[in-house]
Amino acid sequence: MALRPIRILGDDVLRKKAKKVEKINTFIKNLLDDMADTMYKNKGVGLAGNQVGILKRVIVVDDGDGLLQLINPVILEKEGTQIDEEGCLSLPDIYGDVERADKIKVKAQNKQGKYIEFEAEGYLARIIQHEVDHLEGKLFSDTATNLHEDKPGQENTEETSEEVEIKDEN
Ligand code: NI
Repeated sequence: MALRPIRILGDDVLRKKAKKVEKINTFIKNLLDDMADTMYKNKGVGLAGNQVGILKRVIVVDDGDGLLQLINPVILEKEGTQIDEEGCLSLPDIYGDVERADKIKVKAQNKQGKYIEFEAEGYLARIIQHEVDHLEGKLFSDTATNLHEDKPGQENTEETSEEVEIKDEN
């Protein structure tokens, strides 16, 4: 297991569509473990293949309730809406409010290749939707409102928090 460098806004790979995983081999299993390590090391709650430069449909998620390593995740159903603040390891210090479905039904494969289906709501549903968007080349900043930059190590209040415009020229 190893850490992988995280791709940052402006990197083309974040705007590309990831491809379906056809074969769950050692490469994919190692990738998922490296992604989990990388997510935890950077204190993230989710990470998608694109973010470590690999255009495969894989995501890792941990909402505080345990690690999910999902291959070829598909959101089958969406219900309700929720609006809350999001950030992203590929957009350091940038935050904004994003509307998401409140409840989702997800289908994916696990590391053993077994198909699993489950329901998620609230924060977990939010993270999964954010990560699946990454696989489509979408970033939370595309639809967020109240985008702002909060520098680490300072007290961030409405006065110190700077409004930002996301420049993603490619
Ligand atoms: Ni992200």
